[in-house]
Amino acid sequence: MDTDNTFEQLLNVFWLRPETALWREIDIRTMNAFELCSPSLDLGCGDGTFSFIRAGGEFDSSFDAFRSVSQLDQFFKNVDVFDSYDESLSPAVTKPPRYQIDVGFDHKINLLKKAGQIGLYDALKQGDANQPLPFPDESFNSIFSNIVYWLDSPQEVIQEISRILKPGGRACLMLPNITFPQFSFYNQLYVKGGDERWKFLEMLDRGRFADNIRQAKSRDEWQSIFEQAGLQVERHHSHLSKLTIQTWDIGLRPLFPVLLEMANELPPEKLVSIKAKWIQTMRAFLEPLLEIDKTLPGNEQPAFHCFELRK
Ligand SMILES: C[S@@+](CC[C@H](N)C(=O)[O-])C[C@H]1O[C@@H](n2cnc3c(N)ncnc32)[C@H](O)[C@@H]1O
Repeated sequence: MDTDNTFEQLLNVFWLRPETALWREIDIRTMNAFELCSPSLDLGCGDGTFSFIRAGGEFDSSFDAFRSVSQLDQFFKNVDVFDSYDESLSPAVTKPPRYQIDVGFDHKINLLKKAGQIGLYDALKQGDANQPLPFPDESFNSIFSNIVYWLDSPQEVIQEISRILKPGGRACLMLPNITFPQFSFYNQLYVKGGDERWKFLEMLDRGRFADNIRQAKSRDEWQSIFEQAGLQVERHHSHLSKLTIQTWDIGLRPLFPVLLEMANELPPEKLVSIKAKWIQTMRAFLEPLLEIDKTLPGNEQPAFHCFELRK
């Protein structure tokens, strides 16, 4: 799969959160060989931008993922500011994705409405993945999900994924390794360290530790959950080094609300030219990190697993 343009596209869409572009580019490179064969499911598709770019789709440089946001003043109270939809702000697709995904599934209707604007999904379905998935047995040939660790019981959703896969069907799942919580500044310095001086890191963590970082497991632990669900591991990759995760853990996250407020004050032509310089600067710092992520020091274990599974 040609991934040459994906980083540029990710930076275009996530320019005010370049740490997200960094993480997503490493995901795309890691799952390079996984083919989404129809009928396919994107489980926890969000607004679909990640899967759109992974499928080779491109947006105009005037578009970004921050058009429809709300409650920016609640950002540090852990509100999902992206859970908002304005139909007048439709994305300008300059290159359609190379393939379609049959179904995008998520619990947030606003994100699904955004996903409906990009021409990637044939159908969108709203539902809670903490409940049995609303699909008949043996519905899909392939499933991608990077949200299993956000759910209450990864074991139950992995059973569900197996149930709705056709025999011989494949799933690609991104799941945290035991090192992921160890790389979180909030966890190390405040939760584990217990030093009140680090309490302010709650503003950096924004609920992530309690929400999803808790589901970290070793390769063997995940493998035994898959086997119990009738899934065989065909490929396993480890990705997202400590350096990348710690870069992502801070990134521009704390500044995001004020950066967006500033960007929104700019006239559209000025915004596009400043954004171009911004992205060029970010590339100079993040591209070397993409390379460094491949060569881990000593026997460091990266923060994530990418499992390709077969039923
Ligand atoms: C980190 S985002 C990933 C979105 C998208 N796959 C991407 O890579 O950009 C996690 C997604 O999981 C969705 N999600 C979280 N809990 C869920 C649940 N219980 N049921 C369905 N979707 C859920 C969120 O709405 C969000 O879109």
